Amino acid sequence: MDQAANLRKLVVETRAVRRTKTIAITSGKGGVGKTSLAVGLAIALATDGSRVTLLDADLGLANVNVILGIIPKFNLYHVIKGKKKLKDIVIEVPEGIKIIAGASGFHQLANLDQKQRAEFIEAVADLGEDDYMIIDTGAGISQNVLSFVSAADEAIVVTTPEPTAITDAYGIIKSIAAQTPDKPVRLIVNRVMTVSEGKRVAQRVINIAGQFLNIKVENLGFVFDDMYVPKSIRNQKPFIVSYPKSKASICVQIIADRISNKEVEEKRGSGLANFFKQFFKSEEEEETE
Ligand SMILES: Nc1ncnc2c1ncn2[C@@H]1O[C@H](COP(=O)(O)OP(=O)(O)OP(=O)(O)O)[C@@H](O)[C@H]1O
Ligand SMILES: [Mg+2]
Repeated sequence: MDQAANLRKLVVETRAVRRTKTIAITSGKGGVGKTSLAVGLAIALATDGSRVTLLDADLGLANVNVILGIIPKFNLYHVIKGKKKLKDIVIEVPEGIKIIAGASGFHQLANLDQKQRAEFIEAVADLGEDDYMIIDTGAGISQNVLSFVSAADEAIVVTTPEPTAITDAYGIIKSIAAQTPDKPVRLIVNRVMTVSEGKRVAQRVINIAGQFLNIKVENLGFVFDDMYVPKSIRNQKPFIVSYPKSKASICVQIIADRISNKEVEEKRGSGLANFFKQFFKSEEEEETE
């Protein structure tokens, strides 16, 4: 059996065992709260009984491990270099989720040869015991970010009410629609001052996307601007844990409930191993462009 057939077999087997819903959290503009929300949502989902892995694919400043106050010894770079097995770099944190630290390793994922890719996917499939994998991506329209979005089952685009953030949110939705027109895209408006602001901004993005891109963006909800969010980053303890009754935590909890209530799509191609298969595919497409 050739490698491609092996890979397909692997993916089918993985799917038969369990489906992990992969959700990429992204934005056009940087600093809109992706990492804060990714950590908050992952913990909220886990608190409700789901098994969650948070994959840090963000090379930004306040990354997942900073927010959680952990210093990972190893990251994907070590896996790619063959120094560690994937399962050895997964960190279980007291908040009840698992973390995969990304660092610079992700740029190198594209450079794996086919055998290494197959091994990597196999290792990911081995981990595939989870209900969700949340992927915190970087901001902006880079192929790296789009690869994660393409591979994920769905994308959550984060914006704030700032006009620049809204314009950039439209930009990233446009890129997602161009690359993967069928990708479910949902929106979170972060840092709103009032409920009506949250609704107004969401409606604006949804209307523009519908009108000019002909894609249906779903409103997942809003999160209040809340001083407990930066405070928690400074304390390196997630706000959803330190301040569960804060306005931001309550909003994140509502959004997590919306995510988990929605039935996991039983469409073909769901699952962790498939996520990376798609990821590599989009990298390959880029290489051959
Ligand atoms: N709801 C909120 N209320 C108040 N401040 C917030 C809120 N959400 C995020 N912030 C603040 O915004 C800043 C950026 O947040 P975060 O690092 O999560 O954004 P990001 O989108 O991941 O950034 P990057 O694009 O650099 O990865 C942080 O200082 C954080 O405290
Ligand atoms: Mg970030």
